[in-house]
Amino acid sequence: MGHITFIEYDGTQHDVDLEAGKSLMQIAMDNGVPGVDADCGGECACGTCHVILEANWFPETGEVVDDEKQMLAMTPEQAETSRLACQVHTTNEMDGMVVRLPEFQM
Ligand code: FES
Repeated sequence: MGHITFIEYDGTQHDVDLEAGKSLMQIAMDNGVPGVDADCGGECACGTCHVILEANWFPETGEVVDDEKQMLAMTPEQAETSRLACQVHTTNEMDGMVVRLPEFQM
């Protein structure tokens, strides 16, 4: 089992276990990482699980489909490497991934 590092807007770091197969959102929720609200429970319908990936990890997270692109377009701090954490399904290859949290969710 590897790990994923979530970094809050203020720099607070959370190193959590990577449980491959879970979504990035679920891992954050299961470990009490603040800043991921996930109001819709992972249905790609609320945009409150916005995260920003370090650029080198972005290609590892798969395709961003149209529904996710539309939700991301509404997030206040969208970046080039933004994803909805509920749409990122983790694999063992994501060991060491660094995920930044925006200051605000929608
Ligand atoms: S939890 Fe609602 S869009 Fe991800």
